[in-house]
Amino acid sequence: MTANRTGNEKVVLVTGSAQRVGAAIIKDLHARGWQVIIHYRHSEQAAFKLAESLNRQRPNSAFTLKADLQQHAHIQQLAEHALQLTGRMDALVNNASTFYPTAIGEATLADWDDLMISNARAPFFLSQALTPALTESRGCIVNIVDIHATRPFKQHTIYCMAKAALGMMTASLAKELAPYVRVNGVAPGAILWPEDNTPSAIASNTQQQILASVPLARSGSPEDIARTVAFLIEDAPYITGQIIAVDGGRTHTLGME
Ligand SMILES: NC(=O)c1ccc[n+]([C@@H]2O[C@H](COP(=O)([O-])OP(=O)(O)OC[C@H]3O[C@@H](n4cnc5c(N)ncnc54)[C@H](OP(=O)(O)O)[C@@H]3O)[C@@H](O)[C@H]2O)c1
Repeated sequence: MTANRTGNEKVVLVTGSAQRVGAAIIKDLHARGWQVIIHYRHSEQAAFKLAESLNRQRPNSAFTLKADLQQHAHIQQLAEHALQLTGRMDALVNNASTFYPTAIGEATLADWDDLMISNARAPFFLSQALTPALTESRGCIVNIVDIHATRPFKQHTIYCMAKAALGMMTASLAKELAPYVRVNGVAPGAILWPEDNTPSAIASNTQQQILASVPLARSGSPEDIARTVAFLIEDAPYITGQIIAVDGGRTHTLGME
């Protein structure tokens, strides 16, 4: 935690938001006047640096909370700490994720747990923990899904299965939490490649193949995802249960990479 809440701004919690796409979502909503809670697990320095820069722009507008979403007890604690800090919750963005190949013959139970928990189980239980506060505020949930939730990515079966579960969670919770809480998703296409030299890395020839199949002929940016999340949160009062692909049209040309 880095600061105490003042003022009446709306509050958003974005999981896994110290860097990359999550940080872009935080910066975008902060620029629109939101108070932001930056959740992280390992990226503490990046989380602190981001919060400091946002608090320089507007004092007491950004907070940091650490939680390992693999630890079931941490999820309830994250929700409780967030509410203690801010007293309200207007939007939850389930962005944290793990991603790497699990080819048949190589996948382990640990891979299954890691991918399923970060991409599906944790978003469900965090949504459950924050539902009373989101109901009170007539708030919303945005899940960051993936275009591969509905179309396979070779050798990434467990990840795709987990994102498919998150996609169904979006539709199912939209029904269950209506009319008080809207639940939507954003499905990114090729936005930011995983870091090289990590298990998630995608070979450069596969990257070229992927980009060649994008009708808009380029990768997207984290800001493309962020502005779509902001649209769903701020400007879409009659949209619930939808998942918007932000993929340069790639869903329609997807092969079996
Ligand atoms: N990047 C793309 O092109 C792309 C494409 C399709 C879909 N997506 C989806 O878009 C979202 C953001 O993508 P990204 O590439 O920015 O994500 P990312 O960098 O792979 O992961 C975001 C953060 O998730 C956090 N995280 C992972 N496991 C966690 C756990 N057990 N507990 C707590 N935090 C955990 C990590 O936080 P710490 O660093 O603090 O540990 C990590 O920085 C993800 O849901 C991803 O699946 C991205």
